[in-house]
Amino acid sequence: MQTLQVDVGHSRYPISIGPGLLTNRELLDARIRGRDLLIVTNTTVARLYLAKLTGSLASNSIASNSIASRRVAECILPDGEQHKTLQTAGRVFDALVAKKMNRDATVLALGGGVVGDIAGFAAACYQRGVGYVQIPTTLLAQVDSSVGGKTGVNHSGGKNLIGAFYQPLAVIADTDTLATLPDRELRAGLAEVIKYGCVWDPLLFDWLDNNMAKLLTRDVDALTYAIGRSCEIKATVVAKDEREQNLRAILNFGHTFAHAIEAATAYKTYLHGEAVGLGMLIAANLSHRLGLIDAAIKDRVRDILGKACLPTETPRVGAAKALELMHMDKKVLAGTVRLVLLEKLGRAIVTGDYSQAALDATLAECFA
Ligand code: NAD
Ligand code: GLY
Repeated sequence: MQTLQVDVGHSRYPISIGPGLLTNRELLDARIRGRDLLIVTNTTVARLYLAKLTGSLASNSIASNSIASRRVAECILPDGEQHKTLQTAGRVFDALVAKKMNRDATVLALGGGVVGDIAGFAAACYQRGVGYVQIPTTLLAQVDSSVGGKTGVNHSGGKNLIGAFYQPLAVIADTDTLATLPDRELRAGLAEVIKYGCVWDPLLFDWLDNNMAKLLTRDVDALTYAIGRSCEIKATVVAKDEREQNLRAILNFGHTFAHAIEAATAYKTYLHGEAVGLGMLIAANLSHRLGLIDAAIKDRVRDILGKACLPTETPRVGAAKALELMHMDKKVLAGTVRLVLLEKLGRAIVTGDYSQAALDATLAECFA
């Protein structure tokens, strides 16, 4: 098992990565200190892993007084991004109230990024904040969403518009859970790993170039390396800028375009990671058009997405529509869409100072 630390000053917590963690009672008892636990999951993940986790948390696991008197309740949400809403978060509040849970309760988020974001948001709000632990079960959640404390839900007007920065008490990433992940979901998670290579670590990018086949066939060592390195990078960035005042925004490379693609296609055509892949392609296109990177880097971004079997054809949603949707992005300041652009492989900038004509030309090429 690999252990990393996230340290944002007011909050410090461990990330544990490895096989067999859902049944590792010693680890769970060390990381999950609360007596009143609410496991939040969804119908799909519940079928696969809920019994395993509740079994490991069972009261007779370890002879400690506090653990022996644990109460474990469940809240099973519907599956899907379309359910990442305030209404669904309300179901978590209802469960916490129904079980008479107090401020010392701990929420356990067992699932992908959707469950993690909803459960974390509910934990941030319930009684003005109870502890929560992320137990991510998708590659995307293990490399990205479970770390760093961004929680929230969607609004009909845009993605993740309602939320809070609220750090978990711990992240427990059991790599065995990836065995049941559909291929398409695995590939969507790889898009976020590619993102770290693009904006931070050119050696990771090279490694991905050389090891993509292993990742696609779920080679355990390759996946473990990709998860560990991604979490290291995310922890480093979040430690410098928890609230996305500046640096953290680079982790949104491709996301402004991705959110527009997701909204324009009613969240039905693309998985989040697939849209992020397309968004990175467009951001690399614009970076090249602005003269920041040469064509070879733009082509490498396209090629690695292709190697990861991610979509590389952008949907023809219309340039004007895409631009309108991009204005809902949380990085918009004083009406200007700030974009994450590449200066070279492994280095990104966040800027509102770019040629509108170049953006228009890129949107026309990609979306018209
Ligand atoms: P998801 O949570 O919808 O999970 C994808 C699918 O896989 C779902 O159907 C889920 O039920 C299923 N699943 C989960 N674990 C499984 C397993 N082990 N085996 C089989 N099936 C499994 O999607 P996701 O890609 O994990 O997360 C996407 C969400 O994460 C988006 O809402 C996005 O906005 C959010 N996100 C948040 C952050 C953050 O920092 N908070 C970062 C990136 C993305
Ligand atoms: N996924 C981007 C971030 O957490 O900041």
